[in-house]
Amino acid sequence: MKKIGVLTSGGDAPGMNPAIRAVVRTAAYRNKEVIGFYNGYDGILKNNYIELNRRSVGDIIHRGGTFLRTARCDEFKTKKGRKKAYKNLEQLKVDGLIVIGGNGSLTGAKLLYEEFNLPVMGIPATIDNDLAMTEFCIGFDTAMNTVLDALNKIRDTATSHERTFVVEIMGRDAGYLALHTGMAGGAESILIPEIDFRLEEIISNCKAGIKRGKLHNIIVVAEGAGKKLKDETDDKRSIGAIIGNHIKKELSVETRITILGHLQRGGSPTAIDRIISTRMGAKSVELLLDGDEAKMVSFDGKKILGVNLDEALSKEKNIDMDIYNLARIMSL
Ligand code: F6P
Repeated sequence: MKKIGVLTSGGDAPGMNPAIRAVVRTAAYRNKEVIGFYNGYDGILKNNYIELNRRSVGDIIHRGGTFLRTARCDEFKTKKGRKKAYKNLEQLKVDGLIVIGGNGSLTGAKLLYEEFNLPVMGIPATIDNDLAMTEFCIGFDTAMNTVLDALNKIRDTATSHERTFVVEIMGRDAGYLALHTGMAGGAESILIPEIDFRLEEIISNCKAGIKRGKLHNIIVVAEGAGKKLKDETDDKRSIGAIIGNHIKKELSVETRITILGHLQRGGSPTAIDRIISTRMGAKSVELLLDGDEAKMVSFDGKKILGVNLDEALSKEKNIDMDIYNLARIMSL
């Protein structure tokens, strides 16, 4: 293997830059060339790339986002698009591709391997932390800290005004970010897609809190929660708005709704994200050079490993029920 391609794809995640840096510097250490494609798979299709060396990835370790930029590419989702991409990679003499991104992005890498036998490595990077077979995805820790900072600030104003706040957190169909930040932020209720809830239950929790003399009530809700409720009521508003408005109707407490949105995806990566992404970036190059194909690098809580990409993508990542139950006990 002489030349490695690298790209970032899907939603950006803090830590993508240190991961690219580690790929480039590990490859340089092993005397290999690296080219970086701009805007994810779209960069392969448009031959939009840059040759990367140790210096080109200087001064990016602390930056959020991704200097290679990112995109969600519809053309690459078609077989025709992938064939074109493979041809371009062949012409550029790329022997292996490292894809940094979430589920959809890593699925693209898997298809390149299955359809054209191109060795690929996936680096899990998404604030949703919803990829199986890895404890952490790049970006999750930074996003948790960003959300926690927001929750602390909301708590200040909530207590001062004795208000109830519904805070909607990103995560697409997964509740990791909401669950972990809800626990760390001491939320009174945590609503996630993986666990059904009833509106009456939330109201009675609020009432119980008020009765116990709580000065505020913070309800953390994952953006993907309450699908059943939305379907039943055909309500098109965000789940945060639905719950907030329900509380306003049912209780005589002042209620505010905060949707944190894309600020959760930005910011300088935390030390943990920088360390994990550096280790994952380096490992992905080592695996490719050792002749491994179609793996995802993973963090098992201690070590960085290579796991089967297909297996990682086909498994569901389950919520840690111990964390969920503990968060509930803490809020009583
Ligand atoms: O997958 C990361 C994520 O931030 C999700 O949490 C969120 O649902 C989605 O991306 C938002 O996507 P977009 O940036 O395209 O609006």
